[in-house]
Amino acid sequence: MKAIQLEKPQSFRRIEITEPHQPGPGEALVRVHRIGICGTDYGGYLGRMPFFSYPRIPGHELGVEVLAVGEGVTSVKPGDRCSVEPYLNCQQCYSCRRGHTNCCENHQTLGVMCDGGMCERMVLPARKLHISRKLTFEQLALVETLAIGCHAIHRANPQPDEHVLVIGAGPIGLSVIEFARLTGAKTIVMDLNDQRLAFVREKMDVADTILTAGDGEELKRLDQLTNGQLADVVVDATGSSKSMSHALTYCAFAGRLVYVGITQEPVSFAHAPTMHRRELTLLASRNALAPDFARIIKLIEDGRIDTRPWITHHADFDGMISEFPTWLKPETGVIKAIVTV
Ligand SMILES: NC(=O)c1ccc[n+]([C@@H]2O[C@H](COP(=O)([O-])OP(=O)(O)OC[C@H]3O[C@@H](n4cnc5c(N)ncnc54)[C@H](O)[C@@H]3O)[C@@H](O)[C@H]2O)c1
Ligand SMILES: [Zn+2]
Ligand SMILES: [Zn+2]
Repeated sequence: MKAIQLEKPQSFRRIEITEPHQPGPGEALVRVHRIGICGTDYGGYLGRMPFFSYPRIPGHELGVEVLAVGEGVTSVKPGDRCSVEPYLNCQQCYSCRRGHTNCCENHQTLGVMCDGGMCERMVLPARKLHISRKLTFEQLALVETLAIGCHAIHRANPQPDEHVLVIGAGPIGLSVIEFARLTGAKTIVMDLNDQRLAFVREKMDVADTILTAGDGEELKRLDQLTNGQLADVVVDATGSSKSMSHALTYCAFAGRLVYVGITQEPVSFAHAPTMHRRELTLLASRNALAPDFARIIKLIEDGRIDTRPWITHHADFDGMISEFPTWLKPETGVIKAIVTV
């Protein structure tokens, strides 16, 4: 069957691979219909993702159809349409035993640390499949991106009368915004890029955005928008160590800061005047949990999350290799590109 492999940075190729084995106990054989492309794939392509190894079949945002199930599987059956939770966990380590499957000590993300779904068929643990009877394959492929924002907001648990500042309006920031809005908290979005802020105002109905040049003017604007209190919850979705080091200064006293963006560089801040004086809570957010997938599917089914603004670009399996480099260009306005298998 056909597959696409990232042989090395900047080099995709069409390959033929053997059919997957028949599903064993607890497994399901699925047909991949749609694949979402995200920053992780772009990072892998550019050779900038530290956990990415080559050669690799990418693809972790998947809308799939169940073809067959192995012994003991009752949660899904042939014909079911599912979203895939692409975080493979060992079920044995201390994190897994306590239910923190998102940060398993032996974690592997499909398509990043092991081969993913850019192929026709694959075998997956059935417990990683989340069914919907209503969503399209395209919507199912979007669920994983939304899960990242869902988990980040869950970490900070904003209340309806609080202010949430989301820094960074890329796809991950947008997924955070979806869930911040659902809490009823007042959501403010900050970015360096006005095109991204315009998208948030026009397509996501967020009135208050702050264009920052990092010169301190943004703090004045935040102060005005929050009645001088600053943000109860700040979620940094930039992946910039500079922004992450600075983000504490946007927090209200007794506020919470979530780092959902990821950096390899050190993050540093003045402890006594900002962290200690304000008694801030600092939280990491990694991947997502199984209940996040079920919740998101229900929210889309109920019309509470509109997936239409999200999907901006499409390609078929054969066209993907030539289209992919164009999606790296910010001027093409890509939010989510979807590949049809
Ligand atoms: N927590 C997780 O499990 C998880 C999962 C996937 C991705 N991520 C991470 O989330 C981050 C964001 O991903 P993305 O795909 O949305 O990236 P992106 O590059 O598309 O978006 C980042 C946004 O931040 C803005 N930005 C950069 N520096 C800034 C600054 N100093 N101040 C204000 N805005 C700034 C950029 O203009 C851009 O709009 C990345 O670091 C990615 O690795 C985390
Ligand atoms: Zn992704
Ligand atoms: Zn584990």
